[in-house]
Amino acid sequence: MEGKKTRIPFNEDNYTHNINRNNERSLDRRGFMKTMVGAAGLFALSTLPWGTVAAKELLGLGNKEYPELAIAKVNDVKVGDAIEFHYPGEHDSALLIRLGENEYKAYQNACTHLRCPVFWSKGDGDLICPCHHGKFDVHSGAPTAGPPTRPLPEILVKVEAGTIYATRVKRYDA
Ligand code: FES
Repeated sequence: MEGKKTRIPFNEDNYTHNINRNNERSLDRRGFMKTMVGAAGLFALSTLPWGTVAAKELLGLGNKEYPELAIAKVNDVKVGDAIEFHYPGEHDSALLIRLGENEYKAYQNACTHLRCPVFWSKGDGDLICPCHHGKFDVHSGAPTAGPPTRPLPEILVKVEAGTIYATRVKRYDA
């Protein structure tokens, strides 16, 4: 009887026989890798909408509406001349070119190569970037010479009661 009381009811080895440290460690590594891949996936998914928005903005695909802005009086811009303005933000410099009695073109004038200011060369009839001899077609904003590959973002304008207004930034037909 006495011997029975002090006897351990089962083999102590039962507690530890199924622990294999090597397996445990490899399981941990695998678990860690799964967690990392999962976290990276979650991060990619969570940033995707913002990446898409940023890409749209950079490519000019966002078709945003901005408040109209009075640029100048018709009488203040001679045919063949250009004036500078800012649209849609106060730091978005732009050019309005009067090509004819009733023909206007306007572009944001940060060069699409490295953002030097593009200017209107009345004599050449071109929009010119002095930094790397870039040129843009005044009728379409498309690059015609030099390193730029993307057109200047066009600003749509309208004339009402003798005033020229910027109405919105046209999306690229990419
Ligand atoms: S910045 Fe305009 S051509 Fe390079």
